[in-house]
Amino acid sequence: ISIFSPGRINFIGEHTDYNDGYVLPAAINKGIICAIQKSKNNFSTIIALDDNKKHTFSIDEIKPIYNGGWKNYILGILFEIKKTRNLSSNFDLVFAGDIPSGAGLSSSAALENSVVYGLNKVFNLGFNKEEMVFISQRAEHNFVGVKCGIMDQYTSMFGKKNKALFLDCRAIQAKAIKINFKEYHILLINSNVKHNLSSSAYNDRRLVCEKVAELLQIKALRDTNEDNLSQIRDKISSTDYQKVLYVIQENNRVKQAFKALKNEDLHLFGKLLYESHYGLKHQYNVSCDELDFLVDEAQKSEFVIGARMMGGGFGGCTINLIQKSKTAAFKNKVLQSYQKKFGTTCSFYKVKLSQGTYLLNS
Ligand code: GLA
Repeated sequence: ISIFSPGRINFIGEHTDYNDGYVLPAAINKGIICAIQKSKNNFSTIIALDDNKKHTFSIDEIKPIYNGGWKNYILGILFEIKKTRNLSSNFDLVFAGDIPSGAGLSSSAALENSVVYGLNKVFNLGFNKEEMVFISQRAEHNFVGVKCGIMDQYTSMFGKKNKALFLDCRAIQAKAIKINFKEYHILLINSNVKHNLSSSAYNDRRLVCEKVAELLQIKALRDTNEDNLSQIRDKISSTDYQKVLYVIQENNRVKQAFKALKNEDLHLFGKLLYESHYGLKHQYNVSCDELDFLVDEAQKSEFVIGARMMGGGFGGCTINLIQKSKTAAFKNKVLQSYQKKFGTTCSFYKVKLSQGTYLLNS
């Protein structure tokens, strides 16, 4: 059988998911195709076609590989499945995709979801989609070491064609919304700075949020507001204060952004994206010079009504809401100025909002 799992973009709601808050992502028409079949061998074979890499192992011995890269996503899924299911038959798996890696477009969530979805079918494991989303997330926690939230895996599994998802990360429930982009469209700009080394910075921030939530005697930062936070201001460092303040404000922005979309107010929506970037840069400290430069260029142009860095941070893409007819000229200008400033090139992608994980053929 073969499965398609998409990557994702995120309009707004960054670092809010692991605070039980709201996010506004969408699955895209770039993803991973994974093919799986049972094997009669006493070992399993997994192949990363794009990298021309192969790995074999026995299903009875699943453990993480130090610096194992793509292998750990697959092994992590197997490890999580085996916690509740008896998986003793070996299999062959091959995957390939068109999501640029390290671009903040969740190629890892796409890989995880395609693998768990495929194994679920091949071995009749009986997991529902929501259970598979959590298996993917735990694989990332336990085998890859990133204590990620639920946004990427959820979106890659449950995305809807032409729609964004307003996801409540506590209830794990989403409202799908069709965005009327009018004369605008989405343009992604990849800084081509790889964000791979950011897992410790990510986990550190998650810990700060949890520590302050504990101090506030709440379950998660979703349960507080700026007033409550100001009451413990002298008990935490000013950098931690800024980080928590960012999360509270970003969570509010997501709710405002959802309303703006419902009212078809794209200018307000775009303004919130710029504010989100400001917070990610100055308060949450997860941006970098290249991303800031790209957002500055966007802000200088009257044709880009909103832009911000996207995903965990420290590299990857910015998302821009730009007037369609002005895109070519803007791209040229940015390409030149980026090259001049950093001596490297940035890349541009157009994406469509697409359906989540599905079976291609059986
Ligand atoms: C990564 C994580 C997500 C989310 C974002 C930041 O993509 O996998 O769970 O926390 O960073 O919003």
